[in-house]
Amino acid sequence: MNQLKFLEIDIGTPSYVKHDGVVEWVTQIASLTTPERVHWCDGSTEEYERLCDELVASGTFRRLNPKLRPGSYLAWSDPSDVARTEDRTFICSKNRDEAGATNNWREPAEMRALLERLFTGCMRGRTLYVIPFSMGPLGSKSAHVGVEISDSPYVVAHMHIMTRMGRKVWDILGEHGSFVPCVHSVGAPLALGEKDVAWPCNKENKYIVHFPETREIWSFGSGYGGNALLGKKCLALRIASVMGRDQGWLAEHMLILGVTSPRGEKTYVGAAFPSACGKTNFAMLVPPRALRGWRVSTIGDDIAWIKPGADGRLYAINPEAGMFGVAPGTSQKTNPNCMAMLKRNVIFTNVALTPKGDVWWEGMTETPPRELLDWQGKPWTPQSGTKAAHPNARFTVAGAQCPSIDPEWENPQGVPISAFVFGGRRSDTVPLVAEAFSWTDGVYMAATMGSETTAAATGQVGLVRRDPFAMLPFCGYNMAEYFNHWLKLGRLAARRPRIFCVNWFRTDSSGRFAWPGYGENMRVLKWIVERCGGRARAQESAIGWVPEYDDLDWRGMPSFSREQFERVCAIEPEEWRAELAAHDELFEKFKAGLPRELQLRRELLQLDLGV
Ligand code: GTP
Ligand code: SPV
Ligand code: MN
Repeated sequence: MNQLKFLEIDIGTPSYVKHDGVVEWVTQIASLTTPERVHWCDGSTEEYERLCDELVASGTFRRLNPKLRPGSYLAWSDPSDVARTEDRTFICSKNRDEAGATNNWREPAEMRALLERLFTGCMRGRTLYVIPFSMGPLGSKSAHVGVEISDSPYVVAHMHIMTRMGRKVWDILGEHGSFVPCVHSVGAPLALGEKDVAWPCNKENKYIVHFPETREIWSFGSGYGGNALLGKKCLALRIASVMGRDQGWLAEHMLILGVTSPRGEKTYVGAAFPSACGKTNFAMLVPPRALRGWRVSTIGDDIAWIKPGADGRLYAINPEAGMFGVAPGTSQKTNPNCMAMLKRNVIFTNVALTPKGDVWWEGMTETPPRELLDWQGKPWTPQSGTKAAHPNARFTVAGAQCPSIDPEWENPQGVPISAFVFGGRRSDTVPLVAEAFSWTDGVYMAATMGSETTAAATGQVGLVRRDPFAMLPFCGYNMAEYFNHWLKLGRLAARRPRIFCVNWFRTDSSGRFAWPGYGENMRVLKWIVERCGGRARAQESAIGWVPEYDDLDWRGMPSFSREQFERVCAIEPEEWRAELAAHDELFEKFKAGLPRELQLRRELLQLDLGV
């Protein structure tokens, strides 16, 4: 938007900001959006506490009972702004083909004109915050710097937790360092004297826009999660995936965990599950007591940046500093590490409030409290027949508070990955676990992954859709080219990780989960790790190497029978006929761009399955 003439306004640049490019850009955006004031964030604890106090005063935050949940807050969003809006997310590359068949594309000049109209005067009456942040450890070679401009103090408080942000970033940027400019507005200007609402947003217009060639991000109208915390999905996945394509690395929607065996051997695993399909749970899994000596440690729960190392292995870092996780379903039973992590210093969004000033959500306790205020602030009882917490209610917490955090979690070199795991939410078809025959076969498994939609994105929940690599909403370029990038990277890596698919979500005839999941997933993870070490047996099936009942460690789980195991592992030809048809439908979208390897694998699979 350089061609426009802007009013010169005094943005009060601090003396320690020496980057002319940043100052010029902030001046431009301030002139366009006309906020009442500009605040340069320093990232200090005092700043965080002051922001929280202001958020309490303005009604966005409610301070939770300091005896029950010290240092913690609860925010309730506008009911129209509760999740990522995939249909309002755009990749504005020069050519439509660059964005590919699975992204929403708009011509860049057209989108710029639209954004200019939307952002004109959009911060009236508000504070423009300048948020310098690093994705990845401060100053490390693998990190990338962004600067987010936002008119939402809720976003600033989140960026304090989710990224490494503040004054130190200016030292890293110096006078000429490169940064990804991220502009965010809730899109709700205030008229003179107009009283603000607790959750300002724009009900009519939401735009989450990426310009991959110029590496810019613009977000309008939403204050929620990945729509507004622009370092996360927008920078660390959509823009970073484009950087990775150009520079030979990967930006993935993956948790990273470490498994320590009783012998003290450590194996690192990257696992991609679609949104709200169990990454946070898996990342901090507590193994069943009977599997004595096995431990899981956490590097990250949502995003991995993966780069080839000099030794031919792939190394992963977690670019985030915090976790923005799904609250419903989290309990002492399903995820004790997570519950311990949430004892203090947490921002909760859209969970329910107890009369004593603590939080509650579906699944947190077996018996719900007798009365609550639900996520919309309305009185709620177990008889209400509605959910007390929104299904996409979230907690925001520093990674350092995770009891299972791995000592290497901030190592800028990353950790060497031995296995990639891909897992969707499928009530049928896909077995509990299978290991791909080869890298190419693994890329096929990941590319064709299907999963039922969840409340993490707006739209209908529970529909099976193809979500390649769990990256459907997050790949910043042509998905077919992305498949090719994976194939190429695997060929270059001398010591490729093995690739597995898992499914914790098969159901029985009465619709209940047929696999107990959560901590019991350790039995599958142990098999995966032992396969990587060449120490576990497997059988050949049409879709990959699979374990038999006796290949898994069942200590402490006598009630899960051979028959039950066979039911969660069954590969039914009729189901796979439909599955392959769904693969075809996905592949047709990519036309000639689809790597030939995947088409060949598809044909082989059909012959092997005999369907
Ligand atoms: P995003 O943060 O949206 O990317 O998702 P995530 O993959 O981190 O989601 P999370 O781990 O928070 O998954 C949340 C949902 O998955 C909750 O409803 C959990 O109860 C459910 N879940 C997690 N693990 C399991 C499991 O092993 N079995 C079953 N049945 N449900 C699980
Ligand atoms: C997801 O939807 O995959 C998330 C939550 O991790 S959000 O940051 O809102 O995108
Ligand atoms: Mn995610």
